[in-house]
Amino acid sequence: MTHDPHVADDARYETMDYRRCGRWGLRLPRISLGLWQNFGGHHPLDRQREIILAAFDMGITHYDLANNYGPPPGSAETNFGGIFARDLARYRDEIVVSTKAGYYMHPGPYGDWGSRKYLLSSLDASLARMGLDYVDVFYHHRPDPDTPIEESMMALDQAVRSGKALYAGISNYGPEATVEAARILRELGTPLLIHQFKYSMYERTAEDGLLDALDQVGAGSIVFSPLAQGMLTDRYLAGIPEGSRITHSQFLHERQVTETYLERTRALNRIAAGRGQSLAQLALQWVLRGGRVTSALVGASSVDQLRTNVAALNVPELTAQEIAAIDPHAVHGTHYA
Ligand SMILES: NC(=O)c1ccc[n+]([C@@H]2O[C@H](COP(=O)([O-])OP(=O)(O)OC[C@H]3O[C@@H](n4cnc5c(N)ncnc54)[C@H](OP(=O)(O)O)[C@@H]3O)[C@@H](O)[C@H]2O)c1
Repeated sequence: MTHDPHVADDARYETMDYRRCGRWGLRLPRISLGLWQNFGGHHPLDRQREIILAAFDMGITHYDLANNYGPPPGSAETNFGGIFARDLARYRDEIVVSTKAGYYMHPGPYGDWGSRKYLLSSLDASLARMGLDYVDVFYHHRPDPDTPIEESMMALDQAVRSGKALYAGISNYGPEATVEAARILRELGTPLLIHQFKYSMYERTAEDGLLDALDQVGAGSIVFSPLAQGMLTDRYLAGIPEGSRITHSQFLHERQVTETYLERTRALNRIAAGRGQSLAQLALQWVLRGGRVTSALVGASSVDQLRTNVAALNVPELTAQEIAAIDPHAVHGTHYA
């Protein structure tokens, strides 16, 4: 990186593919960058900056955040805001920033779940941390069993009407709740742009109705943890590398590296090698196969990882035969402890 502030690569739109979110006009890159784990207070800021700027240079126009990303909660938004102000502010109209509220953020009755009080105050706090006037997408991060879905959807509608968000999204909702959320939002006059959910060769719940529900309501789909947090790469095939997510995250554990896991992952790794690619690339091509998923939302702890991941878009698509060969190893729950 030679310029400070950064000067974006002129060729950044030449190779990335962009897809519309369902039937709506907003297009997202097939690979987006998420700031959940490697962009908090404990990660070096210069590395964060390198990854964020390299992403933009590769045509990744979409950064995904949430109020609680860190650790500590809020620090990913603060760090992103600093890098954005220094290097990316002049490209604001070329960038899609999303944030969310719905998980625990602060003590007291207004810092968790799905009330209008929490969602709208959290959006203001996110904007302040990132130094932005608006986000492109504001998500309800998870369904709240104790708040009427109307209340959460009215808060998303209000966020859009106030101009603090351009579009509304939901995350981690099941198929029926998704159809209901889309209906309520449509009646309020704010469409459901997109649903963000977990999907990978080892996490296949979305195949049981959610993908169909999204087709039905015409919303986009962006999938998180498509590499199962690194477990659908070769990262853990020869032990636990120093600095890997297993060594520092509360969301991934050594006990998940079981014999069954290793057996299936080695088999998938061999299929990838047979195609002359890495397992990470195969895993990304697999979630994007058939065009039902708008964008795969990856995390990365280095620019090299991100480059490898984006290169998955330049390899021939999986054939029906290859998908069938993958299937016996792509077993839901493989990486659960
Ligand atoms: N809506 C929700 O509830 C929710 C929940 C979770 C995540 N998300 C979103 O989804 C984003 C992505 O989630 P995720 O980070 O779990 O995604 P992921 O892409 O499945 O996992 C990322 C991790 O995989 C490893 N990795 C990435 N590329 C690699 C490569 N080419 N070779 C080897 N290892 C590689 C890295 O591990 P190391 O760190 O070990 O290098 C990296 O930190 C998040 O940042 C967030 O925006 C949303």
